[in-house]
Amino acid sequence: MAAAAAPEPLLAERFEHPEGVVWDAAAERLLWVDLLQGRVHACDADGGRLDALDLGRPVGAVAPRAGGGLVCAVREGFALVDAAAGALAASPESRTIDDRLRDAPLRMNDGAVDPRGRFWAGSMAWEDAPAPPAAGSPPAGALYRLDPDGTVGEQLAGVGISNGLGWSPEGDRCYYVDSVTGRVDAFAFDLDAGALGARTTLAEIEGGAAPDGLAVDADGCVWVALWGGWEVRRLTPAGVVDRVVELPGAHVSTCAFGGPGLRTLYVSVSQQGLDERALREQPGAGHLFALDAGVAGLPTHAFAG
Ligand code: BGC
Ligand code: CA
Repeated sequence: MAAAAAPEPLLAERFEHPEGVVWDAAAERLLWVDLLQGRVHACDADGGRLDALDLGRPVGAVAPRAGGGLVCAVREGFALVDAAAGALAASPESRTIDDRLRDAPLRMNDGAVDPRGRFWAGSMAWEDAPAPPAAGSPPAGALYRLDPDGTVGEQLAGVGISNGLGWSPEGDRCYYVDSVTGRVDAFAFDLDAGALGARTTLAEIEGGAAPDGLAVDADGCVWVALWGGWEVRRLTPAGVVDRVVELPGAHVSTCAFGGPGLRTLYVSVSQQGLDERALREQPGAGHLFALDAGVAGLPTHAFAG
């Protein structure tokens, strides 16, 4: 079933803080997290076969592993789920492979796999931290790279809310959002080394909305979800807005291409931080949406570890 040009709800179910939407090409399924509930969800391209896996701790991002199973950015670091025979719900327990944030007032947030199969994910201040960061202190978040051999390295320090990540079609640019900066940035990227180079601003987001998750299409344009902005915005590689997709909810958290030919754009809209009145005014809050993007997305990659 092809998606319509305007966003339509993918599922009747509502989630608290849906985030980290990503297409699992090998399994032909959509994956996402309900972040603070600590759950990974999956369904088919058209919303069938809804499935869930409870990780028992917040999970900011998920991606498929090349040999089956999942890699996750969990509250305290990184975890792996081994390949499951059938439903996600029947998967083995997740195994923590790095817990560097165990005692920190931080949690992992968004992440993505680069074209060479490394998993990148970053951190932010944790809502439930026993000792929240002091007001005015510099941001303590960071961006990390998990290599296929299990090594984790810090790639960027001083991050406020680590969010969307994506790569240009040639793999020579890495797009990155630290939401508190209000910008979508572009780093020069050394694909062989997996190293970030010079940082430039692709676009500034005006009007009080914060850039959040992002996805890159086959034309090299960057689709960015706007938290507090009720929309997904398509930016050309020069940073010019050339399309806006409106959603019936303010906290648009991530977007990802998937489905047949990677032509469907999936968008998550969060309920996090909304009071009852806001929830009444935002029928889309907590839902996943699908639309025909009119352009194919770049393939997403599996973690090679
Ligand atoms: C985080 C939220 C945060 C939002 C702001 C999300 O990725 O999970 O906690 O409020 O980004 O952009
Ligand atoms: Ca996000």
